Amino acid sequence: MEPRTGLAAISAALLAMNRTREVRGVLQTIVSSARDLAGARYAALGVPDGNGGFAQFIVDGISDRQWQAIGPLPRQHGILAAMLQGATPERLDDVRADPRFEGWPAAHPEMSDFLGVPIADGDEVLGALFLANKKCPPGTPRTGGRCTFTDDDEDLVRLLAEHAAIALTNARLYERGRELTIARERARLAHELHDAVAQKLFSLRLTAQAATALISRDPERARTELLQVTRLAAEAAEELRAAVVELRPAALEEDGLVATLRAQARVLDRAHPATVTFVCDEPRALPADQEDALLRVAQEAVHNALRHARPARVAITLDRRGMGALLRVADDGSGFDPEAVRRAGRHLGLVSMRERAIGVGGALTVESAPGKGTVVEMEVPGG
Ligand SMILES: Nc1ncnc2c1ncn2[C@@H]1O[C@H](COP(=O)(O)OP(=O)(O)OP(=O)(O)O)[C@@H](O)[C@H]1O
Ligand SMILES: [Mg+2]
Repeated sequence: MEPRTGLAAISAALLAMNRTREVRGVLQTIVSSARDLAGARYAALGVPDGNGGFAQFIVDGISDRQWQAIGPLPRQHGILAAMLQGATPERLDDVRADPRFEGWPAAHPEMSDFLGVPIADGDEVLGALFLANKKCPPGTPRTGGRCTFTDDDEDLVRLLAEHAAIALTNARLYERGRELTIARERARLAHELHDAVAQKLFSLRLTAQAATALISRDPERARTELLQVTRLAAEAAEELRAAVVELRPAALEEDGLVATLRAQARVLDRAHPATVTFVCDEPRALPADQEDALLRVAQEAVHNALRHARPARVAITLDRRGMGALLRVADDGSGFDPEAVRRAGRHLGLVSMRERAIGVGGALTVESAPGKGTVVEMEVPGG
């Protein structure tokens, strides 16, 4: 195929550059487009690492074997450095004759004529294009038996470099955006696993312990508890699936908040020495996201009480409050210093409760002191 020239060539290069979204792919397209456009034997693109080296150095026109033989990435010195600092293009008939030339590694191909063009976004130099050894198209004048880069070549590569700066900036933004999305998703999953799955496993463990204690004394009740263990294991698996695919908890979907809280309080009351009660005098429908948040916060508050406080009673209440609702989880256990825990900042439970409350336009308060028991309250605005 005839190499494309002029407008067709630059248009093909720009299209290719914008079709790729990964930074690495964009860099590769830029360097091979520049080599094609300028008719160069060799092309390279260096991205500075901010410490006098190259974060990336991508070559075109050199075989993998040759590239490996050349050795480690070049440091920024001589003419490569000038391109990154001066931010102006350089065209040389023979790079080896330039006073800044410092030689190259043994396996480096011999290069003579050279064109360097920085890729800049405003004042920031994102990288530089290096082209060497102009291929002689038929009928071109030769200087000393060789061809050299022309004004047209330089214009084309400069034009390409301007667009390359945009494509590179976009690709970086895209990659950063994707990293953020992944980080956010990881945090969501961590909270979900902590709040839903860990809680179910906790209930399961308590119930299994209760069953073990009952086996010889009251086999019939032990049997009932073991059936409960089976059910809780199935629910834990279901919660896990829901957390991964971002579904509402199945129990909420089917039974609503009040019935779900009542059932969970009953399970914990049976399995744990503490008395766990749930009271809701005037149930009211709430937006789904507020019900989700209330359930998660109630679960975490109750489990914190049972795990950390050795309480005799844990009382859960859900009351109307204006258009919304107020959830209250009170225990008469050991209590703690919420401020000190917050400063230590290692635990997920209290942080996650607060985030869930804020996330649905609500608020959370934790009142506790050593020896005084704990009250967790969460208010939601309703819909
Ligand atoms: N109701 C409570 N009674 C006594 N101490 C509590 C109570 N709730 C929380 N705490 C204390 O606050 C600490 C932090 O609770 P948080 O729920 O944030 O983390 P955690 O329960 O230790 O771990 P996880 O991340 O699994 O929830 C607990 O380790 C405990 O010392
Ligand atoms: Mg906790």
